[in-house]
Amino acid sequence: MDMKQFWDAFNQGNFYRFDDLCPTCGHFLVAFKGRDGKPLSNGACPSCGYLREQGHLDKAKQTDEFYRQARKNDAINFLTNVSVFTAFSVFNHRFDNFIVKTDKQRQLYDQAISVSDRLVNNNLLHSVFTGGTGTGKTHLAISVLQDVLEKTGYRKKAAFVDFQELLMLKKNAIGSREDSRMLDGKIAKIRQADLVVVDDLGAESNGETTQYNLDLASGIFKAREDKPIIITTNLEGKNLRTIYGERNLSRILAHSNRNNLIFNQLSDYRVTN
Ligand SMILES: Nc1ncnc2c1ncn2[C@@H]1O[C@H](COP(=O)(O)OP(=O)(O)OP(=O)(O)O)[C@@H](O)[C@H]1O
Ligand SMILES: [Mg+2]
Repeated sequence: MDMKQFWDAFNQGNFYRFDDLCPTCGHFLVAFKGRDGKPLSNGACPSCGYLREQGHLDKAKQTDEFYRQARKNDAINFLTNVSVFTAFSVFNHRFDNFIVKTDKQRQLYDQAISVSDRLVNNNLLHSVFTGGTGTGKTHLAISVLQDVLEKTGYRKKAAFVDFQELLMLKKNAIGSREDSRMLDGKIAKIRQADLVVVDDLGAESNGETTQYNLDLASGIFKAREDKPIIITTNLEGKNLRTIYGERNLSRILAHSNRNNLIFNQLSDYRVTN
């Protein structure tokens, strides 16, 4: 077909014009149009004769998926290596397996989704999940973390810190230079992660805490002042303030207005199920 025949066919609407351009000469790419209006081939360049290979879209998709998988591996490695937890199963919590039976659960689920959406959109957000034992605080906090990782295509690094476990590991590491160094390395990464969940804050205290615990907590609060954090706790804000001090907590609470989830009117899920 010469160029005149081509343009005639093109003008009669028999050709499909692709949005992307010829990688060789920059002309637009075309293909014959089927009855359904879709291109019948992968496209060719009417200017330089470049022929696009079969399956180029599949290839582009495969490349995207390859990079996504590589980022996922990195993010999961970070999550599992940096996090402090007692059972791996904690990472199985998802919005999908949070059962909504009561209005309160629906409200908390919606609030947690909203927290996640804002984190996905890079909002600086501090959030405190407060309430009784077994009410789903840890479940929804991990759900947010996993949702943020997935929805950002694993472009963020997140860590989970069981605060009670961290305190225990810190105490056990006293006297072992290697353990201390390993733990301090983890804590440094926790401070810098894009999102951190600090789970079960305050459970170590009976209304007061040691200077040691206080220093550990306030070090994390200080580092997270300008970065997102989700805290779960059995303590009310008033008691948290008493334990950790207004000055330490004000760093976190400054951004948590309107983002706090109150897990009341719920029974202990572990007992009822
Ligand atoms: N609505 C729910 N749907 C499904 N599982 C739930 C729900 N609420 C809680 N659970 C499950 O119940 C158990 C306890 O929940 P979770 O650990 O989130 O409680 P918590 O509020 O963090 O309690 P604690 O204060 O003792 O840490 C978990 O196994 C969790 O997956
Ligand atoms: Mg919990």
